[in-house]
Amino acid sequence: MTGIDDLPVRDELRGKSPYGAPQLDVPVRLNTNENPYPLPEPLVERIAERVREAARNLNRYPDRDAVELRTQLAKYLTDTSGHEVGLANVWAANGSNEVIQQLLQTFGGPGRTAIGFEPSYSMHGLISRGTGTGWISGPRGEDFTIDLAAAEKAIAENRPDVVFITTPNNPTGNAVPPETVLALYEAAQAAKPSMVVVDEAYIEFSHGDSLLPLLEGRPNLVVSRTMSKAFGAAGLRLGYLAAHPAVVDAVQLVRLPYHLSAVTQATALAALEHTDTLLKYVEQLKSERDRLVSELRAVGYDVVESDANFVQFGRFEDSHTAWQKILDRGVLVRDNGIPGWLRVSAGTPEENDAFLDAVRALKKEQTT
Ligand SMILES: Cc1ncc(COP(=O)(O)O)c(C=O)c1O
Repeated sequence: MTGIDDLPVRDELRGKSPYGAPQLDVPVRLNTNENPYPLPEPLVERIAERVREAARNLNRYPDRDAVELRTQLAKYLTDTSGHEVGLANVWAANGSNEVIQQLLQTFGGPGRTAIGFEPSYSMHGLISRGTGTGWISGPRGEDFTIDLAAAEKAIAENRPDVVFITTPNNPTGNAVPPETVLALYEAAQAAKPSMVVVDEAYIEFSHGDSLLPLLEGRPNLVVSRTMSKAFGAAGLRLGYLAAHPAVVDAVQLVRLPYHLSAVTQATALAALEHTDTLLKYVEQLKSERDRLVSELRAVGYDVVESDANFVQFGRFEDSHTAWQKILDRGVLVRDNGIPGWLRVSAGTPEENDAFLDAVRALKKEQTT
């Protein structure tokens, strides 16, 4: 049987497996940091209306520059951060994964490198590989915080072209202090200069503020965002970035023409009309997240402080066996391959209760 490695694929793809969390059919799925709440019915109706309008023009290519959508995203960012963001500062694509891919196509590529501080979002490394960018796994402390001195040293030694800082971090959930981001930006400029990408996929769930104000006077800084989490629209595939207008001009050199379909633009615009309602769900999820943290601690687990819609907990002698035992009780969590730890996404109160019952039972089993 012919397999991938029998094909003339690029050397760096040989022997690799594709990204993918298991999509198992179990009663409680808390493994991909999705928002557990379906979109509210009035929004579903509004999406149908806007998509119907868009359908009448599907014989035409969509607005290549997604001007109306970028304008509304800029308004959302300005309203929620207090930092003035305009159309020229915003770019949108099919999920923040595509935003990251466009950034790496623009600022990385063959002969160039990117660094992230791991464990962190594994797609930063995978998209680097996919774009021919060399990947450097930078260090993180035992407690999953970024050790500034070690990170600065890694930047100075490797002189990467792109630096990823995920805050709140996935899978650990902890936020990176703004002083650390600033220091890493300075280190990256001194070493190269390079682009610093702050991945704020989970920022709406944070106790702290967005780092958008840091964009002022820093043209090599990019903040990336998504509608997959806070807006409860993972199926929509809409990610975006805020940066200096020159960055927005630069990514247009690599974007595919008409990359964002008219249907996607219409749907995202409808969702943005309902921002206030959607952000109320975020508040509920934040309090459920805090409940998960305190209940897990009460049961006797170690928990990483979380600013996201998920919680990293442990420690297990064998995290894969623990993952399986939780799954046997009908709850799917995530084994990210970090020895001793698992990650659970905040679900509805009922889903979280089911999860807490499962881990309480597991603890009992392991201590008796
Ligand atoms: C840190 C981080 N960035 C980006 C993404 C990708 O999100 P999107 O659905 O917008 O592609 C994720 C998704 O889990 C994530 O955890």
